Amino acid sequence: MKVILLNGSRREKGCTFTALSQVAAPLEEAQIHTEIIHVGKDAVNGNVDALVKEIREKMKTADGLVVGSPVYFAGPSGEIKAVLDRLFMTGEDVLRLKPAAAVASARRAGTTATLDVLNKYFTYAEMPVVSSRYWNVVHGYTPEDVLADKEGVQIMRILGRNMAWMLRCIEAGKKAGIQMPDKEEKIFTNFIG
Ligand SMILES: Cc1cc2nc3c(=O)[nH]c(=O)nc-3n(C[C@H](O)[C@H](O)[C@H](O)COP(=O)(O)O)c2cc1C
Repeated sequence: MKVILLNGSRREKGCTFTALSQVAAPLEEAQIHTEIIHVGKDAVNGNVDALVKEIREKMKTADGLVVGSPVYFAGPSGEIKAVLDRLFMTGEDVLRLKPAAAVASARRAGTTATLDVLNKYFTYAEMPVVSSRYWNVVHGYTPEDVLADKEGVQIMRILGRNMAWMLRCIEAGKKAGIQMPDKEEKIFTNFIG
């Protein structure tokens, strides 16, 4: 089993990466492989399609998704938004029914607004949203700050453990013959008929 974790920060090894690493550790302990993909500047420098293609390919065989973003101006980073807009518009089939969770890292404020935006991608694609205790946020300006945020670190650890548990439950369900629900054809209406 495998979980993909997207780091939506421009900083490869910053606070978001540190938070995602805390989620990845209990998954690895549960023998679930993890890969942190750094979204970086490519997402908004003309390479978003290639990056999304790579993520979509990896999600074909992955079982879960965690999206991490720093808070920029009280919302998700433009980089992660650019990737998710393309990924969820073109990759629903490789995402559907796979457990997902969002993580936000801020120096001070804007985390819950950020989580609100990120979680909406998951429910758009029928992805079961994995929860932790409280909300999935850490606080810091440096990785050291994040590690000093003991409550945040605990929240990340619990999130990783809960995702591992949900993945094992789905695996056991499949082995017991429980079918995944079929995808319904989309009814697509708008406000003008
Ligand atoms: C462009 C920009 C905007 C930011 N806006 C906010 C903000 O609105 N609220 C906040 O608390 N921190 C804000 N920050 C700080 C980062 O969210 C915070 O330091 C975060 O933990 C950095 O994560 P990273 O190291 O993974 O990039 C901002 C940082 C940048 C670069």
